[in-house]
Amino acid sequence: MTIARIPATLIPGDGIGPEIVDATLAVLDALEAPFDWDTQIAGLAGVKEAGDPLPKATLDSIRRTRLALKGPLETPSGGGYRSSNVRLREEFQLYANLRPALTLIPGKRYENINLVVVRENIEGLYMGYEHFIPIGGDPHAVGMSTGINTRQGCRRILEYAFEFAIATGRKKVTVVHKANIMKALTGIFLETARDLYIEKGYHGKVQMSEIIVDACAMKLVLDPWQFDVLVTTNLFGDILSDLVAGLIGGLGMAPGANIGADAAIFEAVHGSAPDIAGQQKANPTALLLAAAMMLDHVKLTDKATRLRRAINDTLNVDNIRTGDLGGSASTGEFAKALVSRVRNA
Ligand code: NAI
Repeated sequence: MTIARIPATLIPGDGIGPEIVDATLAVLDALEAPFDWDTQIAGLAGVKEAGDPLPKATLDSIRRTRLALKGPLETPSGGGYRSSNVRLREEFQLYANLRPALTLIPGKRYENINLVVVRENIEGLYMGYEHFIPIGGDPHAVGMSTGINTRQGCRRILEYAFEFAIATGRKKVTVVHKANIMKALTGIFLETARDLYIEKGYHGKVQMSEIIVDACAMKLVLDPWQFDVLVTTNLFGDILSDLVAGLIGGLGMAPGANIGADAAIFEAVHGSAPDIAGQQKANPTALLLAAAMMLDHVKLTDKATRLRRAINDTLNVDNIRTGDLGGSASTGEFAKALVSRVRNA
């Protein structure tokens, strides 16, 4: 059976981006993933080559393909640029940020972690409504930020989380908030969750629990196994998903998907890692796992499963690992080993 070709945008990104993207493409080729890549630039590369961290050609490409795999993007400091990642999420209304954390390497501090952070990706304190107030000679005497959460925005992310939990056979959705202090900004999130749970009749299909974000951080460290799906507002989700990445061996192992009604962009949770860029030290696993999520998204689940199995075997049977996991393989060596696992699977 021939599989239809799937147009997709590819953004190599900054820092370690091109190295991990090359590794991922080699593995996707070996898997015969049917993506027709349209390669585009963004971030620092966008500023250098097109004078814009998010050039029009890149946006047009995603508008056409509605599907992208991207390396990490650096926001140039100075010059007043807004984060390209935040702009991409706004432009394509990528309201759900899905960050699964699954233990792949046994024998570490935490065993058998299997949880998913669902983060609201557009609203909250990341809307960029902030400014300084000058007083006397100090232009930055006061810093101010306004967060905005809407009922509609809370509803769609909460609904996404409950539906995702039910569709993937998960048992519990924990709503993470700080409604005791930020009574409006995160109170509306909790209130909407309670209403939605009753209105949609989720009771009997999936459990719902509530937790304050600071307690959640402590419990994630003490007993992460009590959690299944965590759903939360933008900033809390950003912080908690890095915490959760730490439970499974670090940022090199954590993939993410940004999903909206009109487009989906897959990436690693980590940034451009300038400290190791260009040295073939980066672990491409997070981006490879993001590529597996992308394969799931386009319903090529057999290829996604083969990819995940090959990653597991390369790490645990062949014991080939990059430096962040205590191994000595370069990015390219890891990719080569994975390609032969994929070919022989
Ligand atoms: P980072 O995630 O790039 O690096 C944090 C630490 O983790 C560094 O020590 C780095 O070497 C290590 N690390 C990250 N990914 C790794 C990998 N695949 N393999 C091995 N080690 C890895 O975070 P940082 O340094 O705070 O940010 C660097 C830049 O990345 C900034 O400009 C930031 O804005 C951007 N960034 C972009 C993101 C995106 O495009 N989604 C997400 C987070 C940050």
